[in-house]
Amino acid sequence: MLAGKRILLIIGGGIAAYKSLDLIRELRRAGADVTPVLTKSAEEFVTPLSTSALAASKVYRKLFDLTDEAEMGHIELSRSADLIVVAPATADLMAKMAQGLANDLASTLLLATDTDVMLAPAMNVRMWEHPATQRNLKTLLRDGVLTVGPDEGEMACGEFGPGRMATPIAIVDAVSEHFGPRPLAGKHVIVTSGPTHEPIDPVRYIANRSSGAQGTALATALRDLGANVSFVTGPASQDRPTGVSVIEVETAQEMLDAVSATLPADAAIFAAAVVDWRVTSASDSKIKKDGSGALPQLEFAENPDILATVSRRPEGRPKLVVGFAAETDDVVANATAKLKRKGCDWIVANDVRPETGIMGGSENAVTLVTDTGADSWPRMSKTEVARALANRIADALGD
Ligand code: CTP
Repeated sequence: MLAGKRILLIIGGGIAAYKSLDLIRELRRAGADVTPVLTKSAEEFVTPLSTSALAASKVYRKLFDLTDEAEMGHIELSRSADLIVVAPATADLMAKMAQGLANDLASTLLLATDTDVMLAPAMNVRMWEHPATQRNLKTLLRDGVLTVGPDEGEMACGEFGPGRMATPIAIVDAVSEHFGPRPLAGKHVIVTSGPTHEPIDPVRYIANRSSGAQGTALATALRDLGANVSFVTGPASQDRPTGVSVIEVETAQEMLDAVSATLPADAAIFAAAVVDWRVTSASDSKIKKDGSGALPQLEFAENPDILATVSRRPEGRPKLVVGFAAETDDVVANATAKLKRKGCDWIVANDVRPETGIMGGSENAVTLVTDTGADSWPRMSKTEVARALANRIADALGD
């Protein structure tokens, strides 16, 4: 799986460092060569001897170790790997990376490298959720750093929440995926996401509760399979995905214009929750109460249906057009009718009855409706739904 891949494994100083020994074993079992680097505080948790024995390699520890510099300088060490994995990536290491500090071997290697870097963060839940760590994470993601985890669960300190290091198996999977085939390389995929805002006046608008979570996860999963993604998003609360081309819009009409301008594409996935009507009587100035008790008279018009418009393009229609359907009753029957009405190839239907907790939640239970029938998937995280869908899209475009 990882035969011949050279992994530089930087082990940070946290209680999860003990799992890194297992990680070395799993990486080697998958065929990788592992060169470990220990930070000074990591040595409080694992010994250089055990690390070296498991890796069957020299362990690098200090920046000013002259023997190391004579053998292999830190620049060369940082660039000789196919991937640098930081596990555990502590809050301190992440902060150093985000700031570009280089005051020990690990941080110097991370600053000097031109190789991809994958972090497996691990820390106390409060440290993970602290605005400083979240700010650093955002900076690092923008810089193109990859992450795996952290998981949620009970922690060594007794608290519960996100911050636990991903399991060694999950890290090896993420590393394998990184080196894996990129079936969507060279394919252009448009993803719409988030709500739209339809103005009533300069300060008021009609919107909906979409967070953009599913569309964002989908854009990320498609990017990970190598696609060139145009992400057309309304004003969503979710952070924008990195490594994709982001086009910000506000109204349904702007979303249609942006999608049309982004065509041609191999596939278009319409995950946005587009507001169905716009206010044709929208005012250029703020509507005021005049004291008489008279209510504003709003006039509406139906917004263009972006999915149907693209599906029915006489020329330049993407090979695959996918719509979403949020249903509360007769999910499959309604989604099948919608597939026909809109002229798209697939509908990803989800059951949004309040008791499912799907709307605004982190999980989704979808039924994929195509012209060959309906396939109900088990309930899983929106990220997993996105990965499964991205794989199906890759299969469809590969045919
Ligand atoms: N859609 C769109 N443009 C619109 C409205 C919807 O592109 N103006 C897309 C959405 O992105 C989604 C699908 O169409 O992919 C949803 O269709 P819609 O008919 O709006 O379904 P629901 O939101 O489920 O609402 P309803 O059941 O009332 O039809």
